[in-house]
Amino acid sequence: MSSGPLHEQLDEIAAAIANIESANAPQLDELKHGLLGRKAGALTRVLRALPDLPPEERRDLGTRANLLKRDVEAAIETRLRQLESATRRGDDIDRSMPARRRWRGAIHPVTQVVDEICDIFRELGFTRRVGPEAETEDYNFTKLNIPLDHPAVDMHDTFYLSPGVVLRTHTSPVQARTMEQYEPPIRIVVPGLVYRRDPFDPSHAPVFDQIEGLVVDEGVSFVDFKAAIDFFARRFFSPDTAVRFRPSFFPFTEPSAEVDAQCQNCRGSGCSTCKQTGWMEIMGAGMVHPAVFEACGLDPERYTGYAFGMGPARIAMVRYGIPDIRTFFENDMRFLDQFVE
Ligand code: PHE
Repeated sequence: MSSGPLHEQLDEIAAAIANIESANAPQLDELKHGLLGRKAGALTRVLRALPDLPPEERRDLGTRANLLKRDVEAAIETRLRQLESATRRGDDIDRSMPARRRWRGAIHPVTQVVDEICDIFRELGFTRRVGPEAETEDYNFTKLNIPLDHPAVDMHDTFYLSPGVVLRTHTSPVQARTMEQYEPPIRIVVPGLVYRRDPFDPSHAPVFDQIEGLVVDEGVSFVDFKAAIDFFARRFFSPDTAVRFRPSFFPFTEPSAEVDAQCQNCRGSGCSTCKQTGWMEIMGAGMVHPAVFEACGLDPERYTGYAFGMGPARIAMVRYGIPDIRTFFENDMRFLDQFVE
């Protein structure tokens, strides 16, 4: 084998050193591979060819190739260090590029509504309480005048954690816990999550927020309840929002009512949001049942009270005209971003 072409190859490799000195990171990688790669590197190939040469040429060419290898390695090392320190200094940052917007954390729209509702009731003298999400059947049902064979137990379609222990199906058990623990007058709002075996569809979720309200004192009447809810609706929605009370049934209240607020979308004239009724349901409520007072150790002859339970997500849907409750759970930034204050 003649050494002529090998000398020419070494000339070319020597010329590549200039490229190394001006290469950017990916180019440098490519050059390193092309010159020193274990299999196909140009310099590697020359060094591999040496043993087949006559001794005289081998010495000449070997010396040159090895010196060149040292130079190439040194040049790559130098360039690599230059590029690294440039990155550290930020020399490779394009300062004319538009900055990316920084994401800012914000309170979830349902939580905003929960806080707002609790604040409005605070003006009426209510304090905020919480209770456990894992609850006994006793507090979730029995003390609330719901015997375990009552159809309402099915209606609530309960998640059982173990025999006798459930994920609470409503925030009403905190009524019982409070009445057992405190002497009237009692005025509380209780926000929290509740759980039901419901399908996840536009108007149901298996877990959702509720806010319980409870007022117990001597001489509390349904009129007090109506006044409080009227105040709430006008503060929360708008000063001219009307509410109405429809007879209903809950085992723990008597009489019971369902409360509607005027549809915020059509202002009562009827639209698709309110199914042409002009009204949107905002809570279940009623006067505390005497059996509940008894179960919680309060004298039903002495005390009366009212209780209500509302769904802040539903109320947020009424207020913002959101058609599908699942939107609150999807964490789509385009949706949530609209509620950043
Ligand atoms: N606990 C009832 C529910 O979840 C709501 C309610 C609360 C009704 C308080 C009356 C009084 O559906």
